[in-house]
Amino acid sequence: MRSPEALAGALPKAELHVHLEGTLEPEMVFFFAKKHGVRMRFPTATALRQAYRFQDLQSFLDLYYEGAGVLRDREDFHQLTLAYVDRVAREGVWHVEPFFDPQTHTARGVEMRDVVEGVVGGLREGQKKHGISWRLIPCFLRHLSEEEARKTWRELLPYREHFSAVGLDSSEKGNPPSKFAGVFSEVRAAGLPAVAHAGEEGPAAYIREAIDVLKAVRIDHGVRCREDPGLVGELARDRVPLTVCPLSNVKLCVFKNLSEHPLKELLRAGVNVSVNSDDPAFFGGLLETWLACVRELGLGEEDLAQLARNSFAGSFLPEEEKRKWIQKIDRLAGVSF
Ligand code: ADE
Ligand code: ZN
Repeated sequence: MRSPEALAGALPKAELHVHLEGTLEPEMVFFFAKKHGVRMRFPTATALRQAYRFQDLQSFLDLYYEGAGVLRDREDFHQLTLAYVDRVAREGVWHVEPFFDPQTHTARGVEMRDVVEGVVGGLREGQKKHGISWRLIPCFLRHLSEEEARKTWRELLPYREHFSAVGLDSSEKGNPPSKFAGVFSEVRAAGLPAVAHAGEEGPAAYIREAIDVLKAVRIDHGVRCREDPGLVGELARDRVPLTVCPLSNVKLCVFKNLSEHPLKELLRAGVNVSVNSDDPAFFGGLLETWLACVRELGLGEEDLAQLARNSFAGSFLPEEEKRKWIQKIDRLAGVSF
């Protein structure tokens, strides 16, 4: 008998919600800090890792932005990105759609060109090495102004061909999607869809706003939709993907325990939920997240196969590629049509 854990590892998976800055392990922080002569407030990588105890999203973001401050040149972004692809290659991942936060780096004087070309270089090398396909998504930081997002969008435009969507992340409370209505209409006019973090710490109403105002085609997190049963029904009916990050939600105190997480409930309600790591250096990697869900939520084989299908169905891959992966999953899960 095959165990659900073995199936979780063997199933082809796509990761749709991972921040490249959140893949920066403490050891890498110290490596880059030494390279660039940056003084860290923590004496060692171990001490930094011990500080990874969070009360909420903001307490995490403060440390996340501090760590990202060691990334300075194109090679850093290339190395960071490749290290992420190398890692997920061992976890049964075949497609990735990472986010990055351009404003975090350009505010420190790093050139946009170095950030984008470093990341794209790492993704291309990872694809060559492991056959892992990719799409890339820059995000606006929602704690900053819409004017700053517009300036960033103008800086991103020359690299537009590398992007499949534009996202919205950072501190959700008090920063509703509608704050960015104008800049996302410019993004859409340039032919790129919006995705948005919504309903992580913010209310279910932010999920509706992201869909209605920003025209978001995919919602990151979205777990607070369960507070609005009508919305859950609409998300299921319209097959709006929710890129859910269960271990992140527990570490950031959105839910007390994994056993209280609504992943299984949303899956059963017919919502396209996928399982993702968010910031693996802080919360655990993708396979670790899947295995924790198997254990704590009692996911069975069919649940796992559906989560794997959802990860490809919710991606920006062309329909034909999606079909190919879903057929592979069906074969592995022993489903015949
Ligand atoms: N940036 C990195 N991780 C994030 C999260 N969980 N929510 C919002 N912004 C983020
Ligand atoms: Zn996120």
